[in-house]
Amino acid sequence: MLVLGIESSCDETAAAVLADGTLRSSVVESQDPIHARYGGVVPELASRRHLEVVLPVVARALDEAGVRLPDLDGIAVTHGPGLVGSLLVGLSVAKALAYAHRLPLVGVNHLEGHIFAGRLADPTLEPPFLALLVSGGHTALYACEAPLRYRLVGQTRDDAAGEAFDKVAKLLGLGYPGGPVVERTARAGDPKAISFPVAQFQDRAPDFSFSGLKTAVSLYVRQHGPLGAEAVADVCASFQATAVKMLVRKAIRAARESGIRRILLTGGVAANGALRAALEAECAVRGYRWTAPPLRLCTDNAAMIAAAGSARLAAGERADLTLNALATLPLA
Ligand code: KG4
Ligand code: ZN
Repeated sequence: MLVLGIESSCDETAAAVLADGTLRSSVVESQDPIHARYGGVVPELASRRHLEVVLPVVARALDEAGVRLPDLDGIAVTHGPGLVGSLLVGLSVAKALAYAHRLPLVGVNHLEGHIFAGRLADPTLEPPFLALLVSGGHTALYACEAPLRYRLVGQTRDDAAGEAFDKVAKLLGLGYPGGPVVERTARAGDPKAISFPVAQFQDRAPDFSFSGLKTAVSLYVRQHGPLGAEAVADVCASFQATAVKMLVRKAIRAARESGIRRILLTGGVAANGALRAALEAECAVRGYRWTAPPLRLCTDNAAMIAAAGSARLAAGERADLTLNALATLPLA
């Protein structure tokens, strides 16, 4: 099955071609330079930029795969969750191409896409498994106990993990996106230098919370600033260690309580080396299997959308031209 995937839910314009689980091309046009000066994604600028680059990105993905539109067996497109103006750009292109070439169309949930990035990386990833999905917009734990079905185990009650990395980077004047720069800066720091609070819930819910940690970092910076390079590295390392501890602890507890012995780590924050290493170590101790996609499949891309869409097309799912963009489309 030859499927074109299109992704435009936030600030990456992406297209990819997947042939029976083998990636033939994956093009990602990042908008980071456009949003960097604002320290976060500006929705109006994002949708305008998608509009400028979406057709060339799709053309390049087809070209690199050596595929023409009529050769395709279907088109998969992200229709939520995300920024509605951004989603509409990819969605309109997908609908127009599907209509013009009489191709099957399927709408993909962006979060399911992140889960399918795990399948692309490891084709042996079959249910049951837990997915720890950590990105700039979402932080949640899902149990996948049957193909294409997801149960929400826990989620963040406030900020997403990636959002916390982005806000801490902004606070320290390190730039945008925050995740990669905080990780790089943390390498020179001591993760035990500052003890930031780990969120705990009275009801022992398997949920996450990052706003307290973000506020603690903000207070520390206000009380101890201006910080030299060494202190900035210590703040990054200590913040990162606390965020990692929170994520890994909840994932391991969910595995213990559900009896599911396999964990997928995915989403933009899954690119974080400290998080990958900590989850790997905790899984090794307990004999759990763990998987995380390679870095280029952790952050937003269309390969994962083509992969999820292929599975849904194979299951007989079809969307018609009334398919709409949904900013808050739930996965479970
Ligand atoms: O999945 P993604 O590309 O977009 C969303 O769907 O949100 O995730 C982007 C998020 C950003 O917040 C970025 O700072 C974070 O992932 N991120 C990282 C790293 N690389 C990207 N966070 C921590 N460490 C990283 N190495
Ligand atoms: Zn994403």
